[in-house]
Amino acid sequence: MSPIEGLVSLRGKVALVTGGAMGIGEASAQLLAEAGAAVAIGDVNVPAGEEVAHRIVARGGRSKFVRLDVAELSQHQAALDSVTKEFGGLDLLVNNAGIFPFSPALETTPDLWDRVLSINLRGAFFLTTRAAAHLRRSGEGAVVNIASVDAMRPTGGLAHYDASKAALVMLTRSLAVEFAPMHIRVNAIAPGGIETPGAQAALGGASGSSPPAVQSFLSRIPMHRMGKPDEIARVVLFLATQLSSYMTGAVVVTDGGYLVA
Ligand SMILES: NC(=O)c1ccc[n+]([C@@H]2O[C@H](COP(=O)([O-])OP(=O)(O)OC[C@H]3O[C@@H](n4cnc5c(N)ncnc54)[C@H](O)[C@@H]3O)[C@@H](O)[C@H]2O)c1
Repeated sequence: MSPIEGLVSLRGKVALVTGGAMGIGEASAQLLAEAGAAVAIGDVNVPAGEEVAHRIVARGGRSKFVRLDVAELSQHQAALDSVTKEFGGLDLLVNNAGIFPFSPALETTPDLWDRVLSINLRGAFFLTTRAAAHLRRSGEGAVVNIASVDAMRPTGGLAHYDASKAALVMLTRSLAVEFAPMHIRVNAIAPGGIETPGAQAALGGASGSSPPAVQSFLSRIPMHRMGKPDEIARVVLFLATQLSSYMTGAVVVTDGGYLVA
């Protein structure tokens, strides 16, 4: 293996990607597997998640699907046990599962608030703390949290989501400090608009009936296009490998220039 291959290789490593059945999570799972990792797909969507795992295995990779609702803390240990039993440990956790249901603040119910925060923030925190014992044993443990540019600039109609992602950014920084002595790096990615099934649904499909806030979001991207899931997966790979060995507590903005415009 050449030195450059060694830097991007995840051979012998084990990853768990939450929300890995579609979108950014699916693209990340595929790319991590291509880099040599055994990849567990943790998701609530059983058929789609199993399909992703099958596709990775069909291409010669190692993968398995684990049914996991990150909002249900009682499921965390069983999911981690299943992954570590099958693959012998855990080196990388990608906290990607997230929902972004548009709701003006004045119409947001306590139930919706709790649902968004339970998945996007509470689930990520407790899964990470549960996983820490395994990541510590790795010696090169890494956590990648998928935040959002909404952590830094509100889109509108997503106050609950924006709060969850801003908190996830701070969680990234806090855990980076606490976990550094355990040789676990904790970083985040702040994607801009990415073409995923979830974003497509938020945009109102092809009907153009997207909320005005979303249309204004799109018009503000200097690169004049949304990103592809694989363009976030590549940053996940960067933060997962020794390419980023001296990075922890960082937030990598990946947004086609949206935040600087
Ligand atoms: N698409 C974008 O424009 C964009 C921008 C910024 C940040 N993000 C973030 O990226 C992440 C992925 O977004 P996406 O656009 O790929 O979403 P998506 O809706 O296309 O896919 C999300 C996946 O997460 C799974 N999921 C949902 N709730 C879950 C739960 N409770 N437990 C486990 N899995 C669950 C879904 O089944 C699905 O497979 C999210 O955290 C999102 O907030 C997306």
